[in-house]
Amino acid sequence: MFETIKSIARQAGVIVLSADAPGVHEKDSRRNLVTQYDIQVQEFIRRQLLAAYPASHFIGEENNAQDDALHGLAFIVDPIDGTANFVRSYRASAICIAAVQDGVPTCGVVYDPYTNSLFSAQKGHGAWLNGLPIHVSDMPLAESIVCLGTASYYADTFDHTFRLARALFDAAMDLRRSGSAALDLCYVACGRADLMFEARLCPWDHAAAGLIVAEAGGRISQFSGAPASLTEKCSIIAANPHAWQEFFDRGFNVL
Ligand code: IPD
Ligand code: CA
Ligand code: CA
Repeated sequence: MFETIKSIARQAGVIVLSADAPGVHEKDSRRNLVTQYDIQVQEFIRRQLLAAYPASHFIGEENNAQDDALHGLAFIVDPIDGTANFVRSYRASAICIAAVQDGVPTCGVVYDPYTNSLFSAQKGHGAWLNGLPIHVSDMPLAESIVCLGTASYYADTFDHTFRLARALFDAAMDLRRSGSAALDLCYVACGRADLMFEARLCPWDHAAAGLIVAEAGGRISQFSGAPASLTEKCSIIAANPHAWQEFFDRGFNVL
């Protein structure tokens, strides 16, 4: 299954790279966009997965006939994480596929077609970037690169997000905001960054990348410390164990 998912993600990347003049539509606000490619890529992935695993359930960001069941074998898919970047050719977007067995993620794949970077993980076996093992850093917070996410359509999260961003900017080395939560998480997994937070994410934003963080030796949870939810929107903090512990010990989770 692992090889199948990686192959499907790479094929989906070809569609993303072939895109020209994406037809852009607003979802529920002018800041929440979807393109014809989000839908096309998701449909491609859905068909491939259901052909290979006919009894599986499919949960994707963009589809209308969504099957929300998270029992048995299920796939959680974000066809393009970083749609606003995609629309503007900012070239920081990724295809995310997680395989979940009875509610537990078993495989995660995040593919950045622009840099041909395939991040992957298998539960209990480790995490890789293009086939080479990856591991989180051991940087303390003071030396950390902190990635933050801010969906620009959740107005109720802005004050909290930027209060926390300011506090972490003072405590850490520097901040980054890529526009792709999945890539932020994978950058923590491979040690390019050290901590990532976002006040509200959907399961497809973090399901695949969260397993990659965990298998790379990192920690991931909600701000409360509860496990990341695969069925509902939730806050996410992910980091190397050292920075993760400091985040909680110094009370950033309740700021
Ligand atoms: C978004 C990106 C962004 C994050 C948002 C997500 P999308 O996903 O991951 O970095 O801040 O919360 O919704 O909409 O581009 O798939
Ligand atoms: Ca997303
Ligand atoms: Ca998306």
